[in-house]
Amino acid sequence: MKVAVFHGSPRKGNTYKATKIFLDELTKYKDVQYTEFFLPEAMPEFCTGCQLCLGNPYEKCPHSKYVTPILNTIINSDALIFTTPHFGACSMSSCMKNLLDHLDFLTMNIAPRAELFKKKVFIITTGAGSIAAIKPIKKYILSCQTRVPIYFYDFHVSHV
Ligand SMILES: Cc1cc2nc3c(=O)[nH]c(=O)nc-3n(C[C@H](O)[C@H](O)[C@H](O)COP(=O)(O)O)c2cc1C
Repeated sequence: MKVAVFHGSPRKGNTYKATKIFLDELTKYKDVQYTEFFLPEAMPEFCTGCQLCLGNPYEKCPHSKYVTPILNTIINSDALIFTTPHFGACSMSSCMKNLLDHLDFLTMNIAPRAELFKKKVFIITTGAGSIAAIKPIKKYILSCQTRVPIYFYDFHVSHV
C-alpha cells in the first residue's frame, strides 16, 4: 500500500509526532511504503491566483515544478494523509492551505481525475477545537472525490 503524507506543520512538533505514531501503527497492519512531503519546503511559493491551472494542462501553473511531483505521488498512492495543527483564527496552517490552493484545480469539474476517486484519506490534526482545521480539508477532499463513497478517518489528537 502506498501512502502520501503531507506534513502541514512547519516544525516537527506535536503534529509530526502524532503522525509518526499513526504511521507506526499503520505499518504494523499493512505493508506500507510512504512518501513524505514537508510543508512549506515542498511547496515554498504562494499561489499567485493566476488561475492558469484551471485550464488543461495544469502544468501552466508557475509553480508546476513543485506541483508535479506532488500530483504524481498522489495519483500513485492508495491513501493520502493530510496533517495540520489547529491555528487560531480559523483553520489549518497556512502552508497546508497553500498546498490545497495549488491543488484546487483537482476539484474542478472541467478536469475530473478518476484516479483520485478511490483513495482513502486521513486527516491528522492537533490542538483543541481542531474540527475547525478538519472541516475545510474534508470539504476540499469531498470536492475532489464526489463520484464515489468516501472512506474518511478523522484523528483529533489534543496537545500531544
Ligand atoms: C498561531 C497559532 C495559533 C494557534 N491556535 C490554537 C487554537 O486556536 N486552539 C488550540 O487548541 N491550539 C492552538 N494553537 C496551538 C497548536 O495548535 C498546538 O500546539 C499544535 O499541537 C501545534 O502543533 P505543532 O507542534 O505540530 O506545530 C495555535 C498555535 C499557533 C502557533
